[in-house]
Amino acid sequence: MKNTILDILKNAGDYISGEEISRILGISRAAVWKHIRNLKNDGYEIDSVTNKGYRLVNAPDIISIDTLNSLLTTKYTARNTKYFPQTDSTNEAAKRDSSSPDGSLYIAGIQTAGKGRLGRGWESPEGAGIWMSLLLKPDIAPQDISEITLIAGIAVCRAAGKGAEIKWPNDIVIGSRKICGILTEMSAEIERVNHIVCGIGINVNTPSFPPELQNKATSLLIETGEKTSRTELIAGVMNEFEPLYETFIKSGFKAVRDEYRRLCVTLGKDVQVIYRKETITGKAIDIDDNGRLIVDTNNGRITVTSGEVSVRGLYGYI
Ligand code: BTN
Repeated sequence: MKNTILDILKNAGDYISGEEISRILGISRAAVWKHIRNLKNDGYEIDSVTNKGYRLVNAPDIISIDTLNSLLTTKYTARNTKYFPQTDSTNEAAKRDSSSPDGSLYIAGIQTAGKGRLGRGWESPEGAGIWMSLLLKPDIAPQDISEITLIAGIAVCRAAGKGAEIKWPNDIVIGSRKICGILTEMSAEIERVNHIVCGIGINVNTPSFPPELQNKATSLLIETGEKTSRTELIAGVMNEFEPLYETFIKSGFKAVRDEYRRLCVTLGKDVQVIYRKETITGKAIDIDDNGRLIVDTNNGRITVTSGEVSVRGLYGYI
């Protein structure tokens, strides 16, 4: 009912009387007033003027699972979604719930212990970002799971648009700054994957970053000057992800390699490949059929698998 009233207010565009709303919905004016009060408590700014009625002034960007469900075109991806106003990490939430069906999605308002790659943390404040993890149960070999992270990167780029590209393996960037990171974790036996958790963090409506991050991090709001609906973006990522994932499961990474290459800003750049204490410098020249980065160095060509490796641009973050 709350959502229907919201739609009525949005469509009205101007003041609409409580009487009119109660007539449309067949409920009492007191019931309308109660729903309006609840919307205000949720953060909606609604003007109420005697003899004129109600007008929606400002809508907060709330992640709505009802709206998400209405926007999904997937068969199983995000069809079982759990929203946590606060959790430690959505990757951990997904792992705790690993008996849930393939494609289950876990979303958090805030993460208190958000995790980044290579043991780093991931800042996940309230209200501005998307912090979500997909639980997947693909029938693939454990060594192929890093390719799912690359697939997720393509899905984020397609859904976000606005010139989003990929810094190999899975940082999504606009210009030369990062808007999204992806952390994939797995539970597996030697030959068999039990489940995978693909965690995606997107800076959506973050207005600014602390000085130490300003050169490296950005958000869709900073890049476009416009707010993006997080619910719509989550649906967009899920809708793009599922067909890519199915193509990958059926035909392997090579089936989407060309699109990944086109999106990959690392290619053609001078890079440093850092693995534990070793640093190798060279030029990134290609992505192979398994999503590995091919780098030409002074000592010959090397093939770099993601995982524990960090790749940095020689002249900046990219
Ligand atoms: C990176 O270091 O670039 C990866 C960051 C991944 C962050 C996301 S936010 C949702 C999910 N939950 C986590 O704790 N991490 C991932």
